[in-house]
Amino acid sequence: MIIAIDGPAGSGKSTVAKRVARSLGFNYLDTGAMYRAVTYSALANGLDITDARAVADIARAQAIEFGYKPGESLPASVFIDGEDVTDMIRTPLIDAHVSAVSSYPEVRAALVSQQRLFGVAHDTVMEGRDIGTAVFPQAELKIFLTAQPEVRARRRVRQNISRKTQTAVEYAIIDNTDEQQVLEEILRRDLEDESREVSPLVAAEDSIEIDSTAVSIGKVVARIVELAKARGARDAGTQAGKEEDTNIDASTAVESNHAEQCEGPMR
Ligand code: DC
Repeated sequence: MIIAIDGPAGSGKSTVAKRVARSLGFNYLDTGAMYRAVTYSALANGLDITDARAVADIARAQAIEFGYKPGESLPASVFIDGEDVTDMIRTPLIDAHVSAVSSYPEVRAALVSQQRLFGVAHDTVMEGRDIGTAVFPQAELKIFLTAQPEVRARRRVRQNISRKTQTAVEYAIIDNTDEQQVLEEILRRDLEDESREVSPLVAAEDSIEIDSTAVSIGKVVARIVELAKARGARDAGTQAGKEEDTNIDASTAVESNHAEQCEGPMR
């Protein structure tokens, strides 16, 4: 089974996707990390980042791998061409260039075929921008996760602060903790991701939209796990939704089913 979780930057996709995967015993793939790894490698190799063909050569030639920590069921680190780039792909420099790189059709083609191979081999929770529309249009469950931009910026800043603490050696490179700056960056990236020609960020017509602005991560996870079970997924024995609940105000959550709202063919 594929559970596709798409949505804009900072909507909580990674946290939600990992918890859903743990809860159901599924594998997890962060497709954004793949676009980030290619962007990192292109810059590190001194390529002109506007040279789509040269960047695509990297996407085709350099293996992207995910590493697991002992005792952890989900991948925790990202490698490209054998180099651990887990922290290096989360810098403001990569944020600034990754949308452009992800707009190159040849880069997308190379990464999408790897993502499909990963997904056919395992039950997977896959997060990104185009999983439900382009990578796995036949995914059994499609979630489009959103939140107000200001809330997304606040979450991203909190995440960056915690990364700073965890990776003291890389302190200098993970420095985007100014909320206004992060908000502007998120809005710029939303616009680029939504307006690119190939596989733009858009909710699949048969996706279920969850607005996490005022809902705890635990409640979002519990809802997705419930939807997955209704489609045949089995519990892995962990307690989704019983995680620590913060910012709870489920009454203001917005959830809508695009399949019910929209007419027309599936993309
Ligand atoms: O989820 P993220 O912020 O790590 O993603 C980084 C960029 O990669 C994002 O700006 C858009 C792009 N992306 C994409 O185009 N398609 C995906 N499936 C995942 C990410």
